[in-house]
Amino acid sequence: MKIFTTKNELRQYLQEVNKAGQTIGFVPTMGALHLGHLSLLAQARQQTDVTVCSIFVNPTQFNDPKDLEKYPRPIAADIEKLQQAGCHVLFNPPVSEMYAGDEHWHLDIGELEHLLEGKFRPGHYQGVMQVVYKLFDMVKPDKAFFGQKDYQQVMVISRMVALMNLPVEIVMCPIEREADGLAMSSRNIHLTTDDRQHALILSKALYATQSGFNINRISDIQHEAAAMINAEPGTVLEYFEIADGDTLHAANQNSAKIVALVAAKVGATRLIDNVIIR
Ligand code: PAJ
Repeated sequence: MKIFTTKNELRQYLQEVNKAGQTIGFVPTMGALHLGHLSLLAQARQQTDVTVCSIFVNPTQFNDPKDLEKYPRPIAADIEKLQQAGCHVLFNPPVSEMYAGDEHWHLDIGELEHLLEGKFRPGHYQGVMQVVYKLFDMVKPDKAFFGQKDYQQVMVISRMVALMNLPVEIVMCPIEREADGLAMSSRNIHLTTDDRQHALILSKALYATQSGFNINRISDIQHEAAAMINAEPGTVLEYFEIADGDTLHAANQNSAKIVALVAAKVGATRLIDNVIIR
């Protein structure tokens, strides 16, 4: 696996890949890799010739400096995992390589930015778009792979790609879970033994919503799921929303896609999860 820390080296290498007529598959991450990240890589390897993974803990998408500081950075273990997964290129830049200094970025994507996650993490999606735009510009991927785990993030990136006419196809990959249902996340390592048990209520509530779904009872079902989570010790619900999968507004009879999305603090750790219902 090639490892690059500067955009010039990365660009030079990928120019040759392009000249050779090979397609590029890109998996952007913030590291602390788990099987969720590796499932995106596996998709990239299946669908494209050369697989590029980036590991960059992007400061502009964190609204809590403490969260940024304590974000796990096990780079040696990550490199090992990528090598074993057959990744071809790792891009692991320092902050100075990605940001020139005081930069201003804003792309108007409408209310999508301010719903659900956007409400609880103001500015978060501007930071995500800012870094993903830069990474796309450096990597110039044919396809980029994102997890359904961050459903709203996939929508935000897809909107940016459409608005700015970027020549990349966005592929959404399913959520990888632990055997007991917990969605894999780099933040799970912060869960205490008790938190780890309490955290199961999120996937349980989502599955209950999925199996008991009835289009005529959306708001009742939503309240029942929220009550389940609120009853769990150590857990503070931020939102549980049965949403239209295209707009993220409340789902209704006419919604072609329906997704249930949840965010909650379990102990000191903020977790998100979702299931596609329709
Ligand atoms: P990060 O949280 O590291 O996630 C990188 C990618 O892995 C995202 O597309 C995310 O949805 C996916 N992912 C995380 N957990 C997953 C799981 N359990 N199953 C399947 N896919 C999973 O998302 C980011 O980083 C950043 O916002 C980034 C896009 C890299 C921009 O900084």
